[in-house]
Amino acid sequence: MNSISAILQKFETDLAACSKVADVLNLKAQVLGKQGALSEILKGMKDATPEERKTLGAEANTAKGKMEALVSEKINTLEAQEINATLLKSKIDFSLRESVMEKGLTAAGLHPVTIVQREIEDIFLSMGFEVLDGPHIEDDWHNFEALNIPATHPARDMQDTFWFQDKKHLLRTHTSTIQVRGMKTRKPPFRFVGPGKVFRCERTDASHEMCFHQLEGMMVGEDVSVGNLIYFMKTLLSEIFKKDVEVRLRPGFFPFVEPGFELDIKCLICGGKGCSVCKHVGWVELLPCGMVHPNVLKAGGIDPDKYNGFAFGLGLDRLVMMRYGIDDIRLIHGADLRFNSQFKTF
Ligand code: DAH
Repeated sequence: MNSISAILQKFETDLAACSKVADVLNLKAQVLGKQGALSEILKGMKDATPEERKTLGAEANTAKGKMEALVSEKINTLEAQEINATLLKSKIDFSLRESVMEKGLTAAGLHPVTIVQREIEDIFLSMGFEVLDGPHIEDDWHNFEALNIPATHPARDMQDTFWFQDKKHLLRTHTSTIQVRGMKTRKPPFRFVGPGKVFRCERTDASHEMCFHQLEGMMVGEDVSVGNLIYFMKTLLSEIFKKDVEVRLRPGFFPFVEPGFELDIKCLICGGKGCSVCKHVGWVELLPCGMVHPNVLKAGGIDPDKYNGFAFGLGLDRLVMMRYGIDDIRLIHGADLRFNSQFKTF
């Protein structure tokens, strides 16, 4: 028996004795590595005749291929054994959910705002928008200045603000702050939405809360039009309400857009005839929006002569209330489990 078949035979015996992947890799290095037994034989070939070299070379290659195949086969087997052993040791009780139910406990569920927010994020992701986040604690510049609301502007009174004692920081009053952060960190064209909590120093009642939820949206490019804005808003609302909705635009004032609009939808409860939900006008105010003001683009580092865009701020709580027939916004943050557990569970 020549030395190559001897090496192969010893390799097979040693491999069979390996019980760990690491041992297999060691053995492989010992035999096939640079200083391995097979390489030593190949090095010795320089003194052989050309004929001998040819046969020896072919034989060495076949042996090498065989050993490599045996190594991967062995590793696969050992890994499968390891996985099986772990599974046998682990104690996953697939019947746990049932036993929790039997004890009268309910499984965890998602908050209705989370359900609706995730649904809307998915709709926008499918339309090529990114989903951005932003901090709850902001400075004056991001919340007001950059959005074309200077210190003396009367529009500051539209939003009663929770200020920190340093008079420089505040709890963001709207998700429009995410517009500013989004513009600063990307180059046009871009489109994104930014959902989150917002805070206002409000007296609470059935339709007002100190903390509520908005979803900001922005699209900037070279030729963005009011037509684009209407298209995206109509698509969004039809997807949310699972039916074609009728919309109308009315002029609206927001310092960060020009022109600014209030987008209303035909009341889905009464079909426009008038009911308590639409306060008997047949339309529900749902989406303030507009074409981004040039000063806002400038603050975001974007050239207003070259680019334009639209923006909108969707009130999530109102949507959640319409979807689930909730008549008091205070239930949303009430942390009452009887309320929270009425929605979809996992
Ligand atoms: N930030 C406004 C608010 O909270 C809502 C809003 C209006 C956002 C118009 C926009 C917009 O992006 O274009 O009252």
